[in-house]
Amino acid sequence: MGLSAARKIEVVTTVAELRARIAEWRAEGLTVGLVPTMGALHEGHMSLFRQAKMMADKVVVSVFVNPTQFGPNEDFDAYPRKLEEDCFKAKMAGASLVFAPAVEDMYPKGNATLVDVTGPIVDCLCGLARPGHFRGVATVVSKLLLMVLPDVAIFGEKDYQQLMVIRRMVTDLAIPVRIEGAPIHREVDGLALSSRNAYLSDSERANANRLYKSLWQAGQDILGGKRVQDALDWVADELVRLGFGRIDYLELRDAETLAEMDRLDRPARLFAAVFMGKTRLIDNLPIEPRPQ
Ligand code: PAF
Repeated sequence: MGLSAARKIEVVTTVAELRARIAEWRAEGLTVGLVPTMGALHEGHMSLFRQAKMMADKVVVSVFVNPTQFGPNEDFDAYPRKLEEDCFKAKMAGASLVFAPAVEDMYPKGNATLVDVTGPIVDCLCGLARPGHFRGVATVVSKLLLMVLPDVAIFGEKDYQQLMVIRRMVTDLAIPVRIEGAPIHREVDGLALSSRNAYLSDSERANANRLYKSLWQAGQDILGGKRVQDALDWVADELVRLGFGRIDYLELRDAETLAEMDRLDRPARLFAAVFMGKTRLIDNLPIEPRPQ
């Protein structure tokens, strides 16, 4: 793909350019959707752009690998950066504008403001496994929302806890935007799409979908009456047997509050974060108790 194809979508890098274009749309009475991303776009992102396009006249895709949400030993430097390809994909999926700021645009010199969501929604799962991660996410997402001031912003349920953190933040800060979640997009064999799947070797990739399959089986077993802890223990054993590495968490939690659950008495989600080789995979799936 040449640069000319990629350039068919408008790309802006500064907040001033972004606001100027959005002001023009607003003057025409158009609505605006935002899909924040870190780039390395895949079909899962494209489904978010399509969903946004159904909800708003114009769709802004932000592409920014946000340094503040990576821990010191995480993959910030290695994170895939593919802006040309991303522009092409954003265009193909109906987006109108790519906002690709530099770090200095998002974090101007002297930057000293962080957005810190606290409490039970962050004190679990990735909030414990990746200290500071959600502070970085909340900080950059609040900046993006204030820069674009969209009618609607869309986030994938693959990062379900992130979606809950953002909903909390938007409510608490009274940011006038509708936050929409979008279902997880999966490969045909069940693996949840993620930019980090690119790190998997062929043999790791061949087994990675077993995370979803094991979670799905545990969900079925819990629905069938198996004790939650027994079902989770079974998944943990299964993952070890299948060659997965460290398990950061494997838990059943309330779908709204993220409180831990040891029995299925209300809508829940099964959450997992586990390493395959050096790649950290996360996944989750909804489980609703059957009506009595
Ligand atoms: O989900 C992501 O890709 C990122 O966490 C987000 C929301 C774009 C913030 O950097």
